[in-house]
Amino acid sequence: MRFTTIRILFLTIGMMLVGLGIVSARNLQTPKDDISMGAQLYDKWFAALGIQTPEGNMPIWERQTTNSRSGADTWRCSECHGWDYKGSEGINRSGSSQTGFPNIMKLSAQMSEEEIIGHLKGSKDPSHNFSKYIDDANLAKLAKFLKEGLPDDSASIDAATKKVISGNQANGRALFEKSCAECHGSDGRQKVFRTEGVNEYLGTIANRDPYRFLHRTRFGVAGQGQMPIGRDLGWKTSDSVDVLAYVQSLPSGTENEVISNAGASSQTSPKLGGPGDTILAGMFAGLAAILGMAGLSALFLLILVMLGVGIVWLLKKRK
Ligand code: HEC
Ligand code: HEC
Repeated sequence: MRFTTIRILFLTIGMMLVGLGIVSARNLQTPKDDISMGAQLYDKWFAALGIQTPEGNMPIWERQTTNSRSGADTWRCSECHGWDYKGSEGINRSGSSQTGFPNIMKLSAQMSEEEIIGHLKGSKDPSHNFSKYIDDANLAKLAKFLKEGLPDDSASIDAATKKVISGNQANGRALFEKSCAECHGSDGRQKVFRTEGVNEYLGTIANRDPYRFLHRTRFGVAGQGQMPIGRDLGWKTSDSVDVLAYVQSLPSGTENEVISNAGASSQTSPKLGGPGDTILAGMFAGLAAILGMAGLSALFLLILVMLGVGIVWLLKKRK
């Protein structure tokens, strides 16, 4: 009978290890819809896949000198081809995000999904090869997004002021109150984005970066599984534009600075910030997340150990 007891003990330890593995695995929620997933890969594929950022700069990056960013950002489709997907022919024809790289809205329309996947594997330009990082299934989602999911909003947004030209603010307000205000607040200021040392709100981003706002409202923020996705809510292309129009009217927190004037603003287009108002707050938030994770694992372990001890005790009692 001793033999069985030992076997059960080993089985329990095995279960504990498996359990620990499940608990500590990265809990990344990815969109179920292929086009939304493709769009999040376009936004920031390494965040959407929850994988390590590639080393150094993307090799093609060195072919331009107008955009001074470096590192992880240089690997993002959005950084090279733009939030309006029109590269050198769209919003990034000038300003700090200018790269001179091509308009893929136009090019994708002329390519088949297979040809796009081939190009993402370096068939035409070996430097444009992402297959080392993104598997076939996800490359197919990217291609599907480029073929079927690209909205053209240039008729809805004034190129000079970046304001929505003829949005329905009442519809935008209703949709925002229903699905967004809970996290971002009725005035868009509940969630603070830290950008190069400055507090920003949803209104700031809507005015400075309307195309990024639209992309993320429709398809979600890469790797950010909590936020609802416009497509999943059944929003039409125009609904997102209406929400953009409404959010552009909310406080941007930088009213005394130039934020919506043509050209000048894109000169200092800052990057996405994280949670927390100060560096210290950010550090505490990170620490809290780690501690929370560790606590959960410990609790799980404890329950399993107790279960194991219980089984052993029961068996002993039986014989
Ligand atoms: C560092 C800049 C850079 C990044 C990052 C980048 N591209 Fe490109 N892309 C280019 C350049 C330059 C071209 C022009 C053709 C070439 O040299 O590959 C191009 C061309 C394309 C084309 C058109 C193919 C053709 O026949 O000309 C598509 C589609 C495309 N890219 C999609 C993507 C997608 C999707 C991603 C993200 C996984 C991405 N690109 C990331 C620079 C970039
Ligand atoms: C469950 C909470 C939650 C809800 C509801 C929510 N968001 Fe978000 N939102 C977030 C989080 C978290 C982020 C990412 C913050 C970060 O990355 O620092 C975010 C980021 C964003 C961004 C990206 C800003 C940027 O830096 O580019 C946009 C745009 C946005 N939200 C719009 C919306 C809209 C529109 C709705 C309504 C459909 C909405 N959000 C509803 C939590 C939420």
